[in-house]
Amino acid sequence: MNFMNRIVDFFSRKFTVAKGGGEKAILKQKASGKMTARERIAALLDPESFYEYDLFVEHNCHDFGMESKDLAADGVITGSGTIAGRPVCIYAQDFTVAGGSLGFMHARKITKVMDHAVKMGIPIIGINDSGGARIQEGVNSLAGYGEIFYRNTLASGVVPQISVILGPCAGGAVYSPALTDFVFVVDQISRMFITGPEVVKTVVGEEISMEELGGARVQVETAGNAHFFAHSEDECFDQIRRLVSFLPDSSRQKAAAAAPRPPKQSYKIESLIPKDSKIPFDVRDIVRAVIDNSEFFEVQEYFAPNAIIGFGRIEGETVGIIGNQALVLAGVLDIDASDKIARFVRFCDAFNIPLVTFVDIPGYLPGSDQEHGGVIRHGAKVLYAYSEATVPKITVILRKAYGGGYIAMCSHHLRADFVFAWPTAEIAVMGPEGAANIIFRNEIMSAENPDEMRRLKIKEYTDKFANPYVAAANGYIDAIIPPQETRASIVRALKITRGKEDPRPSRKHGIPPF
Ligand code: HXC
Repeated sequence: MNFMNRIVDFFSRKFTVAKGGGEKAILKQKASGKMTARERIAALLDPESFYEYDLFVEHNCHDFGMESKDLAADGVITGSGTIAGRPVCIYAQDFTVAGGSLGFMHARKITKVMDHAVKMGIPIIGINDSGGARIQEGVNSLAGYGEIFYRNTLASGVVPQISVILGPCAGGAVYSPALTDFVFVVDQISRMFITGPEVVKTVVGEEISMEELGGARVQVETAGNAHFFAHSEDECFDQIRRLVSFLPDSSRQKAAAAAPRPPKQSYKIESLIPKDSKIPFDVRDIVRAVIDNSEFFEVQEYFAPNAIIGFGRIEGETVGIIGNQALVLAGVLDIDASDKIARFVRFCDAFNIPLVTFVDIPGYLPGSDQEHGGVIRHGAKVLYAYSEATVPKITVILRKAYGGGYIAMCSHHLRADFVFAWPTAEIAVMGPEGAANIIFRNEIMSAENPDEMRRLKIKEYTDKFANPYVAAANGYIDAIIPPQETRASIVRALKITRGKEDPRPSRKHGIPPF
């Protein structure tokens, strides 16, 4: 072939591979409301920024008629590109090619781009749309998954890892997303489960649809495997771009600062707090009253809503925000809220993002469901995560801070750098009602009017402990601040903690209560 023919041949090959699984399969993909893998990459990344790797990789399977099959790009598109000008590595499984099934070379393309991301210190984004292990390749496809899981683990805490579920993600395939930091799902498109409805029916006799078993809503509300829910793929890509804007490229850096902006006028802290201290308020409003432009990017909004977590900026710098949500279950810590908070704290700590915690907590949730489900083990994760974190830690106690909840929510005892309390804070072993019933039981029982005596004793306990002053007298609170000084206090604390160093004893690694 002469030079021109070679060039023509190259473009013709490239064109053929770029067509993926062919027209029929693409039409089927579209009919199910999904974009193709290439369209997804183009929609997520900056225009024209995608740089593809390994377009001509081919599978190496010779069994079950595979030798005669051309699988375009082996069913996965890999490469790098930019989001808002910042580099990211990306892969997108192509369901139009053998159902996006994962064979050995398909996996090798993914692990290559993962290795690249770690070496370059940039985020890795994986778009999953696959029938799982390529059945014809047997153990080689399992090997491929193992290689991916291993790399997910080594990349953890080094570069942000983002998984997007845009189709089936079944069997062991779900464990790569589960090992990553953030999982995005789309209504009616994402399906994540270990065993599908047919197996469920055979093994446990339960009839359940794919949507009910592992659809997007189940993943964000019930299972907590996913962190972000969108109604369309485009909305999902917007969410990913927004998330990336808050993060550093790797643990070697701090997130880039944006231009500082004051909170919106509509979020005035004084007007957000009900006059009656018994009426709960939405802690997210307090967060919005404190952060730049009142823009709170909530993570896991629908899972364990008794706790809130998410990102915001203060004077332009990314902070990780954690709060108890008194509107749901009075803001208690339970199993799910503990898992949610602990993992988020560890993420922020790994990526140099300061933690700001808003406390309004009556304690851990009582009950046999919780005890038998392991609230001790799960609750301990919060203690571990906050204690272990060495990023700046700033805590604001708004109202209740009772019992284990007080300690767990980034108290001084877990080495918060600054603890502020509003004058409305109540810091005690437990709520005044419960406390009075226990320590004054005899006096209440033997009183002529037990109800009156109970009221008196509750008041006595409240006057003594349900305030911030006892804790402040012991130095457990650095400053009691009026609510309207919250933002200014946090800004000051962030400035002072900017150069924080907090060396820890040398060890291979700790053993968190996973
Ligand atoms: C090889 C596969 C495949 C697979 C799908 N295809 N899954 N090829 N291995 N795992 C192929 C189909 O044969 C078909 O090829 C094309 O992809 C499209 O699949 P359809 O079935 O036509 O699509 P759809 O009706 O949308 O159904 C999608 C599906 C279904 C629900 C995902 O394909 C399915 O159930 N696949 C098998 C899922 C599974 O059991 N996977 C293995 C899990 S075990 P043609 O040529 O007809 O177009 C596993 C273990 C991993 O993953 C453990 C890791 C630790």
